[in-house]
Amino acid sequence: MKVPATTKNRTERAQEVIARCRALAKFSEDANSLRRTFLSESMHDCHAAIAGWLKPLGISATIDSAGNLRGFYPGADSAAPRLLIGSHLDTVPNAGFYDGMLGVVLAIALLEELDGKRLPFGIEVVGFSEEEGVRFGVPFIGSRALVGRIDEELLGHQDRNGITVRGAIQKFGLDDKRINEAALGDDVLSYVEFHIEQGPVLEKLERQLGVVEAIVGQTRLVLRFCGKANHSGTTPMDTRHDALAGAAEWMVAVEARAKVIPGLVATVGFIEAKPGATNVIPGEVRLTLDTRHRFDETRSVAIREFTGFAEEIAEKRGLFLQRNTLLEQNAIVLNSFLADQIEEAVRKSGCEPHRMTSGAGHDAMILAERIPSAMVFLRSPGGVSHDPAESVLLEDVACAIDCGVHLLKQLAQTREFLGRICRA
Ligand code: GLV
Ligand code: MN
Ligand code: MN
Repeated sequence: MKVPATTKNRTERAQEVIARCRALAKFSEDANSLRRTFLSESMHDCHAAIAGWLKPLGISATIDSAGNLRGFYPGADSAAPRLLIGSHLDTVPNAGFYDGMLGVVLAIALLEELDGKRLPFGIEVVGFSEEEGVRFGVPFIGSRALVGRIDEELLGHQDRNGITVRGAIQKFGLDDKRINEAALGDDVLSYVEFHIEQGPVLEKLERQLGVVEAIVGQTRLVLRFCGKANHSGTTPMDTRHDALAGAAEWMVAVEARAKVIPGLVATVGFIEAKPGATNVIPGEVRLTLDTRHRFDETRSVAIREFTGFAEEIAEKRGLFLQRNTLLEQNAIVLNSFLADQIEEAVRKSGCEPHRMTSGAGHDAMILAERIPSAMVFLRSPGGVSHDPAESVLLEDVACAIDCGVHLLKQLAQTREFLGRICRA
């Protein structure tokens, strides 16, 4: 017989959250590892599993035209505004089981903890369709739809198989012409996201939960070095236009410069050389650069330097260079009222909070453009993420649930919340 929701203690609830994250990891495009990109076939199964967990709560999950899963738990009356809680359901290749999924599953656990109780606001669980930027190189497609930032240019981006974002939406069975309907209405109060830290800070400080105050800005570029493919055995070294050697020189120059700019991180995460044979000089290389910093000006200056390096190297080696900006996302400061509320809730859950900046990008940074947004971090053992070794500790998940329960209670009791938080 199914145990009624109320009889679960925090540890059991946390065990269930972890088990559900692990269950979602079965829905993958790859046979032996987790990869679930935007609107892939495996996302259908992921949605179905989550819809199955929402159903006993009386919630019918829907999928909006951007592929976001949405489930609404009404408030005390039909005119009550809504609070969004969620995170993303897409993953990187060879992913861990918690980045994104934990925040969605934890939102469901919080609804289960309410056990039918209605609050002065409704709660909408959101499972964003796209945060990582793996399929189209452009991240945050799901959350951008909620803030009304999907344009023709974005819909025209192509994946590696030449399928556009628009085509992917249609293939998933959704109506691309209704994408504007995914946008938030005026009844949305704010957004709260639980997420693993994905770094070493909380673990080093022996803190279980973090209160995120700001999220670093990021720029994502794609560069193409074009040289001349030729025979590797017959072409003398001094007559070559090797695109891969040029790209390699640039990567090393970027790394060396990034190391001496405090707080800056720069990553070439994808590289493809064509034609890709041992005995052919690479004629064309496509590679991406992801650059992040807390201060937008520092990031912009670094990007100018990095692209300058690429132009110099291309010129010196007789290569043709193309550059395209996939993402220019400024750093954001999250809502201070909500951060204070979260800090109080963390303390009530028996943990010592730590205020911090996120080096990873999150859907919260997009929603923050429209509504007051906040994030809670759970410590990441070993600081590992974007890897199957990514994990969470049971006691930290229990603490996060406790924190969420207190947060909802506080917000329900805070007269200020419904008034002041709007457009704070
Ligand atoms: C998302 O995980 C990102 O920060 O790239
Ligand atoms: Mn994430
Ligand atoms: Mn991620």
